[in-house]
Amino acid sequence: MDEVTAIYPGSFDPWTLGHTDVLERALRVFPKVVVALGVHPTRQPLFSADERLELLRQVCAPYPGAVVGSFDGLLVDYARSVGATTIVRGLRSGTDFDYEINMAAANADIYPEVDTIFLPARAEKQFISASLVRELARHGADISKYAPAPICAALQRKLRA
Ligand code: PNS
Repeated sequence: MDEVTAIYPGSFDPWTLGHTDVLERALRVFPKVVVALGVHPTRQPLFSADERLELLRQVCAPYPGAVVGSFDGLLVDYARSVGATTIVRGLRSGTDFDYEINMAAANADIYPEVDTIFLPARAEKQFISASLVRELARHGADISKYAPAPICAALQRKLRA
């Protein structure tokens, strides 16, 4: 059987321990997971695409099944180009679900071979989001419970600059 590849897309601005949890669980199901940075031309992220890619490489390094990539077009086009037919998304709340169910339907409409699976956030990680981590870091709070060490260090450098 060919190696089944899944794609775990996101903005990852920045990557959090919630993302780590989803990646680890996805790797229990799929031997290879492409962690794909989606670059939005109109959004103003805290970290540039290059910075986020470098951070993704660092946080994904401990996982042999994880491969880091990026795309600035349609997710399904990128999924097709890497041979992935499963999109993995984490779900934290009903609000997430309302957004995600539409995205999954649109993606399947454009690329019928693709399917989306949702991994529900673990209860203790449910409130962790990239925006929360940015906000806490801006106010000098300890974010080591919410983001991996390379992200905490990068946030400190960024916010000091
Ligand atoms: O972490 P995010 O911001 O929720 O990630 C969103 C992302 C990057 C997965 C989504 O915006 C995306 O897939 N963008 C690429 C453009 C695209 O394919 N849009 C159609 C989806 S309906």
